[in-house]
Amino acid sequence: MSNLSPVDRAKFIAARRACDYVEDGMKVGLGTGSTAAWMVRQLGEMVREDGLRIKGVPTSSRTAHLARETGIEVISLDEAKWLDLTIDGADEFDGDLALIKGGGGALLQEKIVATASDRMVVIADAAKEVQALGAFPLPVEVVPFGWQTTKALVEETLAGVDVLGREATLRISGDGPYVTDEGNYILDLALRRIGNPWQTSLVLNQIPGVVENGLFVDVCDVVVIGRPDGVVEVR
Ligand code: 5RP
Repeated sequence: MSNLSPVDRAKFIAARRACDYVEDGMKVGLGTGSTAAWMVRQLGEMVREDGLRIKGVPTSSRTAHLARETGIEVISLDEAKWLDLTIDGADEFDGDLALIKGGGGALLQEKIVATASDRMVVIADAAKEVQALGAFPLPVEVVPFGWQTTKALVEETLAGVDVLGREATLRISGDGPYVTDEGNYILDLALRRIGNPWQTSLVLNQIPGVVENGLFVDVCDVVVIGRPDGVVEVR
């Protein structure tokens, strides 16, 4: 751990602390991203070395691969039906524990899995805390068919919402659009400040072509915040 950067140390510490919420026999949603990856590695260690028995439902193909590699039994959400707990990262969280997620492109499966859980624990470094959501561009998953029309509709619709900006940018990977695990594209919305996350989420999800957006409102129960000096705060 001593060779980690300060941010990675904070992520690692939050992830390790969140594993205290995991009990023997639980079905656990496994988030996506660099912070969630620390959590998956830690749970894998607990499975291998302490005999912890859990079933994991990954939120992306990347996390599924890592979970299997570390020794966690992986099942699908349909096999699990309902989960005891999901642990995942976030791009931003506010004082009401509303989140922006999807920086890693997995927001759709992440939202389905978190919503199907008794409890969602978010793990984050302290820099992810904000007064108001929106400085981080809001990821919105859209179907490839007619995505440019959907983009124009999204920008037009945002005129009636309490946000400061409304420019949408197609996420690119290599020399083409970034493609999610569900075969969709992602638009990143430069909203700058989201006055009403709940309203913004509802309005976006009404637009044909939009599959889901990265606002998680009333989904997260606990945030575990890690700091580079080793201090962990739970909210
Ligand atoms: C992936 C996510 C991640 O949880 C979010 O992007 C945070 O990532 P990281 O832990 O790497 O900072 O929502 O879709």
